[in-house]
Amino acid sequence: MRDRVLDILANEGVLLEPSAAELVLARSDPVDFVRSALASMPQQPLVLTVDDLRPYADAPVVRIVPKALEEVRNGPPAPLPRGDGDFCVLRDITGNSTCEGNIIDFARYFNDRFKKIKKILSTRRELVGCLPVPKATKFDREVRMIAMVNEVRTTKNGHKLLEVEDDEGRCPVLILKDSPLINESIVNDEVIGIVGKTSTKGDLVVLNELVRPDLPLRRTMQPSDSWTSVAFMSDVHVGSNTFLHKPWDRMVHWLKTEGKNEVQYLVVPGDVVDGIGVFPGQEDELEIDDIFAQYESLVDRLKEVPDGIRVIVQPGNHDAVRPAEPQPTFPKDIAKLFDSSISLIGNPCYLEIEGRKILSYHGRSLDDWIGSVQGLSYNNPMEAMKEMLKRRHMAPIYGGRTPLAPEKEDFLVIDEVPDIFITGHVHGAGIGEYRGVRLICASTWQDQTPFQKMHNFNPDPAKLPIVHLGTGETRMLDFN
Ligand SMILES: [Fe+2]
Ligand SMILES: [Fe+2]
Repeated sequence: MRDRVLDILANEGVLLEPSAAELVLARSDPVDFVRSALASMPQQPLVLTVDDLRPYADAPVVRIVPKALEEVRNGPPAPLPRGDGDFCVLRDITGNSTCEGNIIDFARYFNDRFKKIKKILSTRRELVGCLPVPKATKFDREVRMIAMVNEVRTTKNGHKLLEVEDDEGRCPVLILKDSPLINESIVNDEVIGIVGKTSTKGDLVVLNELVRPDLPLRRTMQPSDSWTSVAFMSDVHVGSNTFLHKPWDRMVHWLKTEGKNEVQYLVVPGDVVDGIGVFPGQEDELEIDDIFAQYESLVDRLKEVPDGIRVIVQPGNHDAVRPAEPQPTFPKDIAKLFDSSISLIGNPCYLEIEGRKILSYHGRSLDDWIGSVQGLSYNNPMEAMKEMLKRRHMAPIYGGRTPLAPEKEDFLVIDEVPDIFITGHVHGAGIGEYRGVRLICASTWQDQTPFQKMHNFNPDPAKLPIVHLGTGETRMLDFN
């Protein structure tokens, strides 16, 4: 029995410390016990210890059958087993916040951003031989450099003048009004590659080529052997008097019936409740005017989701966490309201589900992108998401509508290319793709509010985007 259990677990990548093995083998259901415990852990340890397992020793075991075993027992995968716990948080700010918001913090924060994006840009052929800003501007020839944009302005003659800076110095960069680059939307605090020529006076660089870090060109999402799907459900806004009860009930009914054979993971990327005092006059738009009661109501609603679907919840700007991004996950007094089977994550967060890398970001900065980049609109948030991927940063603009916390590491840099990139916040719904990355904007469960009506903003609610983790195929369900 001992060897059989250890073999099964080893085949699934689970190693047990000898004393943990004793604890496991003393149970009548050793394999199910370990799988159930692993499925409840926020992060899977390399080697399971007694301390890892003790909190789960008294809890009832949830039957979790991994897909490989299920296939051996029952043949081909139809219907799907539910509750495979192949999920982990790769990175978010939770437990890692160090900032106090002083000047040193900000210098360190921007320096980290610069270094991370410079590393990506340094691999670009166009920037081979790039020099630090003070050295590059000394040469009377083509220069290449990597720098952060401090300021962008239009001169009275219609040219564009940037001030750029690296860790050694700064210089002005001119985009001539007849240059094909004149309409490029360059935003403050993004990191760019510059190919240009020093002016005859040597006081500025004239831009000839703009190099963005971007995503690799020929990247695709290779099929995997996963045969389950992840659904995304943003901006639930429980507590709002425009919460869409009927479409929600239809969606839950679908999850309980057809959906449970298809979906094993449900990611909720922020604004999970409407909150209290988020905007002036909000009290007139609330059905539930107590923040704890809002979360309790959300928890009751999430209890309707079938047990086999793993629910992952992230905060947004309406939630009871600090507004500055990156946002750690929910504080203890809110977190304790959630069932322990629900995973609470920070914002943004890199997750891995069944081998697929998912970047989940509530999307507050979409307001800044749409306000700063020509051609973007609330009607097509996926275009704004592409701008983030091109610049490898979710929220570069400091001082806009997205408050940024100067952590020692910039958690908003997109240093790893995800398979799926998901946002919410703008209450739009859409599916797109950019260089092999599935882009998802995950709708809302709140109808148009009086505030939105006043601003002529039409949400696209009650949609449920779904991505198949094996094939990468996407679809959008409509519960209106
Ligand atoms: Fe929202
Ligand atoms: Fe939001």
